[in-house]
Amino acid sequence: MLNFSRSRNQPRAARSMSLGGMDYVDQKRKGNFIGKVFLLAALTALCILVIKRSPSFTTPSPFSVHEPGVTHVLVTGGAGYIGSHATLRLLKESYRVTIVDNLSRGNLGAVKVLQSLFPEPGRLQFIYTDLGDAKSVDKIFSENKFDAVMHFAAVAYVGESTLYPLKYYHNITSNTLVVLESMAKYNVKTFIYSSTCATYGEPEKMPITEVTEQKPINPYGKAKKMAEDIILDFSKNSKMAVMILRYFNVIGSDPEGRLGEAPRPELREHGRISGACFDAARGITQGLKVTGTDYNTPDGTCIRDYIDVTDLVDAHVKALEKAKPGKVGIYNVGTGKGRSVKEFVSACKKATGVDIKVDFLPRRPGDYAEVYSDPTKIRQELNWTAQYTDLEKSIQVAWKWQKSRPNGYGSS
Ligand SMILES: NC(=O)c1ccc[n+]([C@@H]2O[C@H](COP(=O)([O-])OP(=O)(O)OC[C@H]3O[C@@H](n4cnc5c(N)ncnc54)[C@H](O)[C@@H]3O)[C@@H](O)[C@H]2O)c1
Ligand SMILES: *[C@@H]1O[C@H](CO)[C@@H](O)[C@H](O)[C@H]1NC(C)=O
Ligand SMILES: *[C@@H]1O[C@H](CO)[C@@H](O)[C@H](O)[C@H]1NC(C)=O
Ligand SMILES: *[C@@H]1O[C@H](CO)[C@@H](O)[C@H](O)[C@H]1NC(C)=O
Repeated sequence: MLNFSRSRNQPRAARSMSLGGMDYVDQKRKGNFIGKVFLLAALTALCILVIKRSPSFTTPSPFSVHEPGVTHVLVTGGAGYIGSHATLRLLKESYRVTIVDNLSRGNLGAVKVLQSLFPEPGRLQFIYTDLGDAKSVDKIFSENKFDAVMHFAAVAYVGESTLYPLKYYHNITSNTLVVLESMAKYNVKTFIYSSTCATYGEPEKMPITEVTEQKPINPYGKAKKMAEDIILDFSKNSKMAVMILRYFNVIGSDPEGRLGEAPRPELREHGRISGACFDAARGITQGLKVTGTDYNTPDGTCIRDYIDVTDLVDAHVKALEKAKPGKVGIYNVGTGKGRSVKEFVSACKKATGVDIKVDFLPRRPGDYAEVYSDPTKIRQELNWTAQYTDLEKSIQVAWKWQKSRPNGYGSS
């Protein structure tokens, strides 16, 4: 793989020399003159053909070389909800981005939107690959020169993780190992990891700080915690700059309406609360199911810390800028304020203008009663604080995108 990528990047002259096969011509020196001329002509024609057919000989792909002043970020899961928003922000900030995604959960439509916004060569490329395929991942790292990796790709539904735990350990823990191994082999210096508040489980004391003990209670949280452990152990003896961001509940979408959240319809039943609200508001589902009203919280429904995706991607850019070689930064990314499911539903009703029917059901396995962050550390160390903290406004922005695209990225 290394040899291949080197020869690809060799200047044209050196390449045609080796292709010219001088040894072979030497052997034929005593043969007849016409044969020799014919052979040389054929070889020259072959050279020209090879050079013409492969643009990388004449101009190496901008993604395959380090360019001073340009930071090339590999965004895994960049076709997904958060990864696509992060890519948009990175491109706006003049980063170079390669998205790797196998579209098992993401949307090609999101990639197309990004490509149409940044069509210039060398800004964005999309590579369709499964991260579980270590050989393909190795090839991607050998052919591209990344400065940093933002690793979003994962399966990310608590309920689903209790039903299909192996899928979670595979696509979260094992795939993170694959990505790290390639980063180590190809000396990629900076790693930003998407972790989650689900790694804390259900701590007794709120709010959650970064030193709150991690005791996850479902396979999703456990798989993410295991991935964190692998990253931490690796970083102890490495010069890699690592940032682990533990997100709380992500909502909202691009304020300019270019991107949105469009999960697979078959995931609806495992879905997140905002998607469930929108489906109910659009009449796709009969109403909104609230699972659990007997939790030990003021109104009996679960309490969560809802973080707007615009704030979240801002935290990623700040983490990338402040990452230091040989150091690990671990940060909660939340607003610091908990809101109940009932509060969320009433904000959703206001934002959509629909009087959504609400059904109250028993608890769902794997849910925690109350989870909210203490975001002091990230404010002090990365100068980040949540700006988009009006729940109703965040939901309104997301609703606008949902309403204008009844089939998600499938149609507009
Ligand atoms: N959404 C949240 O509230 C939330 C909260 C905490 C943490 N996170 C984390 O943020 C990250 C992104 O979440 P999201 O909400 O954008 O999810 P998403 O499902 O929208 O995006 C995940 C993307 O990863 C891709 N992917 C999954 N497995 C893959 C594989 N094996 N190979 C290649 N691509 C693969 C999917 O196709 C999808 O595009 C995840 O790591 C998730 O655990 C999300
Ligand atoms: C994603 O990768 C998995 C594992 O290799 C594979 O089973 C699945 O078919 C892929 N999904 C798509 C849409 O290609
Ligand atoms: C996750 O891993 C499984 C194999 O365990 C694979 O079949 C699947 O396609 C992968 N991706 C997703 C999104 O489930
Ligand atoms: C912190 O961020 C604010 C606003 O985003 C900015 O005005 C300020 O200069 C930053 N402070 C430091 C020390 O970088």
